[in-house]
Amino acid sequence: MKDNILKHLAIIMDGNGRWAKKRFMPRTFGHKKGAEVVREILMESKKLNINYLTVYAFSTENWKRSKDEVNFLMNLLVDYLDNEIEVLHKNDVRMNFIGDINGLPKKVQEKIEECIEKTKNNTSITFSLALNYGARNDLVNAVKSISKQFKEDKINLEDIDENLISKNLSTYKIPNPDLIIRTSGELRLSNFLLFECAYSEFYFTDVLWPDFNKDDLKKAVESFGSRNRRFGSIK
Ligand code: FPP
Repeated sequence: MKDNILKHLAIIMDGNGRWAKKRFMPRTFGHKKGAEVVREILMESKKLNINYLTVYAFSTENWKRSKDEVNFLMNLLVDYLDNEIEVLHKNDVRMNFIGDINGLPKKVQEKIEECIEKTKNNTSITFSLALNYGARNDLVNAVKSISKQFKEDKINLEDIDENLISKNLSTYKIPNPDLIIRTSGELRLSNFLLFECAYSEFYFTDVLWPDFNKDDLKKAVESFGSRNRRFGSIK
């Protein structure tokens, strides 16, 4: 085992629909179970001394799903935040949100504001929910923001570097992910953290998200521990 430090874990929670289908249940049943799994994995991550957990809950492409499924997911999010906020706060969890938050329904935006405010001084783990998130959209917004700063003479061309781009992404409060897990056997990134994952390690598992448990998390963390991270150098 190498002494790799897993500071930031990011997860693409996939397979809710297939999990429900296998049980002859509607897709929404899988999302409901998926939300319960988020709670367990967050608490386990804290126990494993992971400082940042980021989960992909709703992408900029997920609006293409049926109106019913989108509505269900938005309501599930509000209910989840409503029900969890006290427990999260008691557990010293700091809530953070990445993505185009202004494009979400008002009731979700209000809940987000409330969660950020309530947990802002917590320090044990930062839990980021990716909502209306797409890495390409995030990069487009960063380019717009940097262009505006340039136009208003707030920055020079020489000021534009990787660091400035990072600062203008919605992920500016969190470090780059060390490990990205995707469940359900799909082997792709689906527009998740494209700029931030340049030197991330990846872990893919066939386990569907609603079945993902503490032991699966430990397996992924162990796999990460054995990786030889070189960041482009030789050693
Ligand atoms: C992918 O499974 C999952 C999603 C697009 C939504 C993720 C949402 C949750 C886990 C629940 C809500 C989260 C919180 C924090 C309240 P899929 O629907 O694409 O499954 P499939 O590929 O089997 O169809």
